[in-house]
Amino acid sequence: MDFLYKMLLVPDLKVLLSRDQIAQRVAEMGQEIARDFDGESVILIGVLKGAAVFLSDLARQISLDATFDFIGVSSYGNRPALSEDPSGHATWDSTGEVRVTKDLDQSMTDRNVILVEDILDTGLTLNFIQKHLQAHKPKSLRIAALLDKPSRRKQPIQGHYVGFTIPDEYVVGYGLDYAERYRNLPDICVISNP
Ligand code: IMP
Ligand code: MG
Repeated sequence: MDFLYKMLLVPDLKVLLSRDQIAQRVAEMGQEIARDFDGESVILIGVLKGAAVFLSDLARQISLDATFDFIGVSSYGNRPALSEDPSGHATWDSTGEVRVTKDLDQSMTDRNVILVEDILDTGLTLNFIQKHLQAHKPKSLRIAALLDKPSRRKQPIQGHYVGFTIPDEYVVGYGLDYAERYRNLPDICVISNP
């Protein structure tokens, strides 16, 4: 086990997707995006904070003229207290009210926008962001999500580029957190006893 994992003294982490599996899939996704946009320029919009690690790896696999922007969102009354819900997501706010905490720095009008997200879960966040972006009238708007948990969907949404479809388990690492921790783990792990 890595020094990092030992140092974190994590109760129960099981590797679901290794760093090698992730790197290989991210490279494939980058090549697919480059093929689809065929020499055009794109803007990658990362959803803070979870997508930061994925975006930085994905961007380096896209051989196109590319720029970055970031958007931050938070949901009203979303997450339950940790003590009430160890899975961290079972009682996710059903109203789907989302607000922007960090807006885009530039206009997306007439741009090829790729929304980069760590995981598609209920779909509430990306539905909101997608509408927010449509108002800019981009030339095109696509979603690249590293992970997808389709069984958790409350609002329909589909990624154009999806890395891995995973079962309904809470995962951390490679940008994904539990109470802000574990984002720096190089592998994606299932956390069962936080
Ligand atoms: P949703 O699709 O609106 O439910 O929200 C997706 C967001 O919830 C993601 O961007 C993550 O920040 C968070 N999330 C959902 N499932 C997990 C998970 O298994 N681990 C860590 N974060 C998660
Ligand atoms: Mg997120």
